[in-house]
Amino acid sequence: MPNGGIGPGPIDLSSRDGGPMKPSMKSAYRDRAGNGPLVAEYYADLTAPLQKGTGDMRLASYGLWGPETRTEQESLERSIHLLADGCGLRPGMRVLDAGCGVGGATVFLARAYGVRITGLTNCEPHVAAGTEWAEENGVGHLADFRHGDFMDIPFPDATFDAVINLESFCYAAPADRPAYMRGVRRVLKPGGRWCLMETLLSGKEMSPAQDAVHVSLQRSCLVPPLMPLRDLTAMMRRTGLADIEVRDLDAEVAPFIESLTKRWKTFVLLTPPPKPDQVAYHELMQSSIDFGQGLREGVFTYPRVSGVNPGPMPAADS
Ligand SMILES: C[S@@+](CC[C@H](N)C(=O)[O-])C[C@H]1O[C@@H](n2cnc3c(N)ncnc32)[C@H](O)[C@@H]1O
Repeated sequence: MPNGGIGPGPIDLSSRDGGPMKPSMKSAYRDRAGNGPLVAEYYADLTAPLQKGTGDMRLASYGLWGPETRTEQESLERSIHLLADGCGLRPGMRVLDAGCGVGGATVFLARAYGVRITGLTNCEPHVAAGTEWAEENGVGHLADFRHGDFMDIPFPDATFDAVINLESFCYAAPADRPAYMRGVRRVLKPGGRWCLMETLLSGKEMSPAQDAVHVSLQRSCLVPPLMPLRDLTAMMRRTGLADIEVRDLDAEVAPFIESLTKRWKTFVLLTPPPKPDQVAYHELMQSSIDFGQGLREGVFTYPRVSGVNPGPMPAADS
């Protein structure tokens, strides 16, 4: 999120250590970590801020800082290029962007790589937002958007050369993750690649204070407990994905988070409490602060993980 772009309102930074939130922040989302309509409503409330407050990228995901990176915009572009690289994207490929938000990565990949890409979202207003953005960018013929649940991917077997999850896999509930993985393998063509960039647990033992940061993160962006990295790769292997690769991006995401956190803390100190329609955005920013803390302390990690579908699903698994 390159800009703390929308309107005013302090968040309670003391909640880092699990303390109570200010009354102004007791939103409909508080204490209701979960999936389904709640998540869709939360992101519906974020439609305008994501369209207006994130410059040319329209992403609800983190930027990655490389040696040549100078601006947040460049760091966001870099993150999408790294994602494309993780899938080996080439013009004409058929790609699924699972949990596409308002279409930032979907449109960028269509423009920069000439892929035919479908953004799948459980948040209905994001279909129109993404479609409009694709038209505005002259890639309406390459990028389309579909309302649906990635837990039940609405496409036939072997449709895609690549499936991406950019900070969206985290919304799959722990018990549902293996089914999601099987769904991804089902819609991938043989040789097709799944690639995600995501906050995961590093596997380092967590202190009670670090547990509290993890809980705060779950509340602020409505995610279930994060998945440990080693469990993810083990699950990929169990699903039959091959050539599993993990690229550690912690050092590259850290500068983005530091800069965002500094700017956001200044913003909230200088502005009045959020109005109801601004709460979701404040919540999302809160999750970046939590993420930064967990990352600095080594309990969270932000890798790119990818794997290849070696062939058709064995009948028993499908
Ligand atoms: C953190 S946002 C990332 C959006 C986008 N990938 C980006 O980087 O801008 C997570 C997105 O996942 C979507 N999402 C969550 N659960 C989903 C599900 N079960 N099916 C489809 N989309 C889902 C949400 O609507 C939200 O837009």
